[in-house]
Amino acid sequence: MKFFIDTANLDQIKEAQDLGVLDGVTTNPSLMAKEGITGAENILKHYVDICEAVSGDVSAEVISVDFEGMVKEGEQLAALHPQIVVKIPMIKDGIKALKYFSDRNIKTNCTLIFSAGQALLAAKAGATYVSPFIGRLDDVSTDGLALISEIREIYDNYAFETEILAASIRHTMHIIDCAKIGADVMTGPLNAMMGLLNHPLTDIGLKKFLEDYKKGN
Ligand code: G3P
Repeated sequence: MKFFIDTANLDQIKEAQDLGVLDGVTTNPSLMAKEGITGAENILKHYVDICEAVSGDVSAEVISVDFEGMVKEGEQLAALHPQIVVKIPMIKDGIKALKYFSDRNIKTNCTLIFSAGQALLAAKAGATYVSPFIGRLDDVSTDGLALISEIREIYDNYAFETEILAASIRHTMHIIDCAKIGADVMTGPLNAMMGLLNHPLTDIGLKKFLEDYKKGN
């Protein structure tokens, strides 16, 4: 399972990278705004800074909602750095844009996936990744993890190469559950990732080992 961090915060990206288990980064316009990164030029520069801080894929989202606009923006984003993955919304023109980029071997991430049908369509259009938003489904009393299972089954039935990128991860158990189902990638906040480290018996056990070592020395 690949681990992506879902943030535009460079300090957190570097902290995850330092841990040695980071495979990539996802961003979106809201995450950029949260870090105070505004204006086209600053946003493009920030994508390059992120790419230089990590070694894997970095999703950069288009703002256009028409085919021509998405193609123009996506090409500009892809030209920024070889690690850029063009993030395209799940809309009709987005499907056309996914196919356009797929035909040109430019990686894409189809975002705002909330149904198995949308994921099927994105895979047919050649998306590199699909991003089902599990936390947002949970927020509206719908089972986000069930959607990951449905997409896994469909993709396995036809050996689609599109990777399931479980997004809108809110906590550590989301990561574990997605791993059990077989999501190819999870993108989440740093604290959800770090939560995987924790177990009280580990802390108790380590304390005892260190105390016992001291007794013998
Ligand atoms: O990757 C998508 C993600 O950023 C959405 O997360 O927590 O805003 O639903 P959230």
